[in-house]
Amino acid sequence: MTTTALRATGLMAGYGDLAVVHQLDLEVNSGEIVALMGANGAGKTTALLTAAGAMKPLGGDLEVLGGSDPAEGLRERAQRGLALLTDDRSVFRSLTTRENLRLGRGPMDLALAAFPELERLLDRPAGLLSGGEQQMLGLGRVLAARPKLLLADELSLGLAPIVVHRLLSAIRALADEGCAVLLVEQQVRLVLGVADRGYVLQRGRVTLAGTGAELRANRAEIERSYLATATTKG
Ligand SMILES: Nc1ncnc2c1ncn2[C@@H]1O[C@H](COP(=O)(O)OP(=O)(O)OP(=O)(O)O)[C@@H](O)[C@H]1O
Ligand SMILES: [Mg+2]
Repeated sequence: MTTTALRATGLMAGYGDLAVVHQLDLEVNSGEIVALMGANGAGKTTALLTAAGAMKPLGGDLEVLGGSDPAEGLRERAQRGLALLTDDRSVFRSLTTRENLRLGRGPMDLALAAFPELERLLDRPAGLLSGGEQQMLGLGRVLAARPKLLLADELSLGLAPIVVHRLLSAIRALADEGCAVLLVEQQVRLVLGVADRGYVLQRGRVTLAGTGAELRANRAEIERSYLATATTKG
C-alpha cells in the first residue's frame, strides 16, 4: 500500500523572517524517488532542512510520517523513521568508520552489504576517507537503519560518475523496498535517471513538476531554467 510520507502544502521556509521558499506544494510517497532540482540558491536545501525538522517552517503545513506538529524537530522525526543526508556528507570525521556505523540506528552488516568497500576502512578515521568513501559511509549507515523517508542533499557533489551510480542504485533499491526518497540534486541528467517524479524550483517557487518521463522529455528546458536564473541574478 502506498502512503504519503511527506506532504508540504503552501510551505514557507527561510531565515529569520525572510522566506526563500514560497508556497511549496510537494508530496513524496512510499516507494518513490522524487527529485528536487534547481539552480544554486533556488531554495532546495532550505526546503529539505525544513521538511526534516532541522529548521522551523515560516508558514504553511507540513505532514511528515503521519505527524503534523510544526514544532517537532529532526530528532523526533528521526525516531519515527526519517533519515537526513546533508551535503557535508553526514559523517563524524574524528571517529573511525566502525564507530560511525555503530552510531547508526541499524546493524553494521547491512551497511557493509550495501558497500563492501567499507570493510577494509573500518579502523580508519572517517575524516581520512575519500569524498566518495565518506558518502558511502553516510549512506550505508542510513540504509542499515531501514528509514521510511530519506531526504538527501547533493549526493553527487564532487564524486566520480561511477560512485554516484553506486549511490543512486543503492537508493533505488531502498525505494523499491518501500522507502520514500526526496533527492536534492543539481545534476539534472543524473537524478532524472532514477526519479519517479520531480519538481524544479526557481527562486523558491516550483516552476515545473511532473513524472520522471515528463521531466526527462523536458530536460533541455529544465537545464535552460538554471541558466536563466544565473544570468538574471543580481
Ligand atoms: N543561513 C542563511 N541565512 C540567510 N540566508 C540564507 C542562509 N542559507 C541560505 N540562505 C539563502 O537562501 C536562499 C536559498 O538557499 P539554499 O541553500 O536553500 O539554496 P540551494 O537551492 O540549496 O542552493 P545550492 O544549489 O547552491 O545548494 C539563497 O538565496 C541563500 O543565499
Ligand atoms: Mg543546497
